[in-house]
Amino acid sequence: MNTSPNSPSLRREHSGPLAAAGALTGVALPHVHAAGSDQLSVALIGCGGRGGGAAANAMSQSGPPKLVAMADVFDHRLKTSYETLKRRHKDQVDVPDDRKFIGFDAYKGAMDCLKKGDVAIFTTPLAFRWVHFKYAIEKGLNVFMEKPLTADGPTSRRMLALAEEASKKNLKVGVGLKSRHSRALQELHKRIQDGEIGDLTLLRGYRMQGPIGSAVSTKRRGEPGELMWQRSRFHSFLWASGGGFSDFCIHHVDHLCWMKNAWPVKAQAVGARTFRTSPDGEPYVDQNFDSYAVEYTFADGAKMYMNGRNMLGAAPIYASFAHGTKGMAIVSKQGDCGRPSSTYRSQTPANESLLWRSKDAKDGPDDPFLNEWAALIEAIRNDKPFNEAASGVNASVVTSMGRYAAHTGQEVTFDEFLNHEHEYAPNADKLTFDSPAPVQADKDGKYPAPQPGIKTKREY
Ligand SMILES: NC(=O)c1ccc[n+]([C@@H]2O[C@H](COP(=O)([O-])OP(=O)(O)OC[C@H]3O[C@@H](n4cnc5c(N)ncnc54)[C@H](O)[C@@H]3O)[C@@H](O)[C@H]2O)c1
Repeated sequence: MNTSPNSPSLRREHSGPLAAAGALTGVALPHVHAAGSDQLSVALIGCGGRGGGAAANAMSQSGPPKLVAMADVFDHRLKTSYETLKRRHKDQVDVPDDRKFIGFDAYKGAMDCLKKGDVAIFTTPLAFRWVHFKYAIEKGLNVFMEKPLTADGPTSRRMLALAEEASKKNLKVGVGLKSRHSRALQELHKRIQDGEIGDLTLLRGYRMQGPIGSAVSTKRRGEPGELMWQRSRFHSFLWASGGGFSDFCIHHVDHLCWMKNAWPVKAQAVGARTFRTSPDGEPYVDQNFDSYAVEYTFADGAKMYMNGRNMLGAAPIYASFAHGTKGMAIVSKQGDCGRPSSTYRSQTPANESLLWRSKDAKDGPDDPFLNEWAALIEAIRNDKPFNEAASGVNASVVTSMGRYAAHTGQEVTFDEFLNHEHEYAPNADKLTFDSPAPVQADKDGKYPAPQPGIKTKREY
């Protein structure tokens, strides 16, 4: 395994033989396949839950693509992911130890194993997207990267510029906003564009659930160090993920805007932290609110409401809806983009006014996680234009501006958020295990939290 000297797990778990054996990341390695070969190879950067899923989705495509390199900042994450993938895709996982890379610069080692036209997968927390995307473009690699793409203005502008650069180099870029690859939502989108429910005037998204992921955190205790702890609890920190609102609500924000064929021009919001301690009384220290209600306005005056909640015991609602001048649609019946979608000639989803219902789970598979890869691979193989990066950045900006409006208690426009100067992890490309974390805890272990009406020009 190629282990960077500043690797935390090297210190924590392998300060012996592996350290001695490990080559350094960044050492130039030969490409695993000669340029011009038909074999498509992928490298996985960020070997967590979604990373393993995305690599498996890639290897399930025709061809089939092979996984040839992996990178993570924790060697135990890489090891577990490798073992799972190898077990399930034995013949397509070709990642010997010298193509496993550990450290903040591990992404370079993994991408250096690819030839031009192969695919790099980015499934780390979003703070590192622009760093990894920039390197992939330099190397002429196609990319699949997970949502959200950005959490602040400066990185959004940077990613938009990189998106343009990728298109100029004819690179194909897929973004994990999977709703756009759901066959049910694709048909619904077409029906809405054809006027089936009239002009859209109101869109509604609900991601209301108990606390999930790492959205709530109590005080850090001991290992791992501050930076690595924040990174591993990325939903708790705005620099790492955009917080719970961005990470959890972006699918609904994105597909509702897609149905409308527009991005909202401004947002106002309310949000608060009702529960300040865990059920056993320990104070929460993260940067999230536990409830958000965002009102977005489109240029034509139409509204979109996105409600996000992470609260035990409150009603769970996880669905989205669109209302038009001639009727309404259930966009996602359950989950990020769960079938069946349906349209109605009334403003309530009554059976007697049903116009259309998409296929249901019982009618056969429609897996957007696989579909999004099929679209990317098809574009690569047939050299079709395919770049979802700018749209992914816009969806990230819209979600972030809703969060920003709740956190500051101020109305904010799309342009104001995009052009804001506050960058949440300005040194994301220079981080090492010993770097100070982008936010610091106070004497009680609490991180800078939003205070609407008090901190009005920045989120924290
Ligand atoms: N499209 C979807 O439906 C969907 C579902 C789940 C997660 N996601 C997205 O995928 C991303 C990852 O989420 P996850 O649940 O897999 O998280 P995770 O914590 O399970 O995995 C992230 C992995 O990245 C590694 N990592 C962190 N920083 C790194 C760096 N600089 N270089 C290399 N590796 C690094 C971590 O050690 C970890 O193994 C998030 O952006 C999340 O929003 C998308």
